[in-house]
Amino acid sequence: MRTTRVLVATFLALFLLVSSSVALAEDYVLPSLREIYKDYFHIGGAVSVASWAPKTLVSHRDLIEGQLSSVTAENAMKPDYLQPREGVFNFREADNLIRFAKEHGMVVRGHTLVWHAQTPDWFFRDKDGKLIYEKDEITEEDRQLVIDRLERHIEAVMTHFGDSVYAWDVVNEAVSDDAAYILRPDSPWYRILGDDFIKIAFRKAHEVDPDAKLFYNDYNAEMAYKRGRVVALLRDLINEGVPIHGIGIQGHWGVNGPSVSEIEDGIRLYADMGLEIHITELDVGMDGRTPEEQAERYRELFELFKKYSYAITNVTLWGIADDASWRSNDNPLLFDRTHKPKPAFWAVVDTSKPWHVNKAEYTGAVFFKNGAGEIVGSLRPGEYTVDDLGFDLEEVSRLEVAKGHLVTFYESKDLSGEVWHFAGTSEFSGREMADRIGSLAIRYVGAESITLNKPVEASAAQDRAHRAVDGNPITSWSPRENPPYWLTVDLGQRYLLTRWVTRLQGTGPLMGGILNSPLNAADFSLQVSEDGDDWFDADAVTDNTASITDRDINPVTARYVRLYVSRPTSLDFNQNLVVHEFEVYGLPSE
Ligand code: GLA
Repeated sequence: MRTTRVLVATFLALFLLVSSSVALAEDYVLPSLREIYKDYFHIGGAVSVASWAPKTLVSHRDLIEGQLSSVTAENAMKPDYLQPREGVFNFREADNLIRFAKEHGMVVRGHTLVWHAQTPDWFFRDKDGKLIYEKDEITEEDRQLVIDRLERHIEAVMTHFGDSVYAWDVVNEAVSDDAAYILRPDSPWYRILGDDFIKIAFRKAHEVDPDAKLFYNDYNAEMAYKRGRVVALLRDLINEGVPIHGIGIQGHWGVNGPSVSEIEDGIRLYADMGLEIHITELDVGMDGRTPEEQAERYRELFELFKKYSYAITNVTLWGIADDASWRSNDNPLLFDRTHKPKPAFWAVVDTSKPWHVNKAEYTGAVFFKNGAGEIVGSLRPGEYTVDDLGFDLEEVSRLEVAKGHLVTFYESKDLSGEVWHFAGTSEFSGREMADRIGSLAIRYVGAESITLNKPVEASAAQDRAHRAVDGNPITSWSPRENPPYWLTVDLGQRYLLTRWVTRLQGTGPLMGGILNSPLNAADFSLQVSEDGDDWFDADAVTDNTASITDRDINPVTARYVRLYVSRPTSLDFNQNLVVHEFEVYGLPSE
């Protein structure tokens, strides 16, 4: 009983620090990225309105309205769409998008005036109908013809849209992937006009609308192999006084790369040149990874964008949901095929916290289910008396507590008296408990593992054992003698434990971060002890091949924890255990 009271006092103190708004979760409204990021940059999306494409402006309208402050036409402002034949313009779909944007207080990015792709041939034919860039000799007359068409296109398009378009990708993808050339030699513009076409385009665009922000847009513009050439082009333009205001970094990336540091180097380079930066076509393919890993990648990227928000003024996703993406197989967006928010969405809602914590704050951290498996109630983190639950605890027979959270029931109405803790998914006998419970609290159990840098003792390879708790996913504890192997951590004080995570061989650099492998520990348990002598299993894993195990446990109090491995791999002849990290989560109980 004494322990219980001390526990309660600690919880109350902790809770006062983290106390947030208290509300039932059923009525949850999706948070708006447009609102969340309004002091940093515009949040944009590519919207499909073209006659031949699925109309996301209709099918994804709710998300577009709720989430975005900027829109880009995925195809309807490209040269082949706007001027399919010389002098024949098709502004209708783009105009619809612009009307929509105005009604919803959104800005419009214009994409794109000059590109080697999605540009009709007529731009490049001489008066006899021959493709000029295929001719042995290109005459001054040919060149002038192409310049005139380029300038007329820019003039007609920009005049039509006027100040409805606040920023234009004037030139798209002109720089070469091949180090032998600055500009890509296969572009018809380049083949006919050489370097000049870029300057001509920017000068004309500025002449038509001196207020429009003019961008050069490219893929891999941030990457080390290519950015030197992009910088060379931009420097040249700036030195010659060509009106250019910004760089569009497309951002067609994956979970595996490019690295955040490579992207950061690129961003810094352009910011230092005094250029405004738009991330124009962001999508992050799965690369065979999990939705959680994609979420973490999106979180890091948005954290980076916020850090450079003095230069980055627009972050546009290339699509809205995975069902209508040009990389649909790679599920690269924030919403899934049924338009539900993915872990990646929750990750960018608040980059200072793990995605599942953000999600729980909006959608609920505890779900109360009845015998038929139906949800009778759900609650966000916070504290409640039984009277303000809005549902009857008696009906509840099962609890589902979101990862990283703990629900504590208290005997009396002011969070005191006898306590009962639950984490993960557990049976809950509402009929028995309802009369005994006066209040409850739902808390997040902390972002940091309580084993981090604590003293360790191991059955083998003692000198490297600390590597399993050093927070560094690259280093490992890797005994290769005779199992069972164990590794004990002295937590230094008693904790209420709710969750444990192991990062095994497959997560390491040698195996390239694969999800499953027979080389991962097969049979192992989390053991706990009050004194370091008597141990019991708090949880056990058998026949495992996953590289990461992440498990909630029935909350239990202990001062010592031990990873106990009886089968170090799934292969009988291989006794080599590799543990990159052994993490345990909990709250101090004294
Ligand atoms: C490039 C273009 C975009 C789009 C994508 C693929 O990145 O800039 O307009 O066509 O390719 O969808």
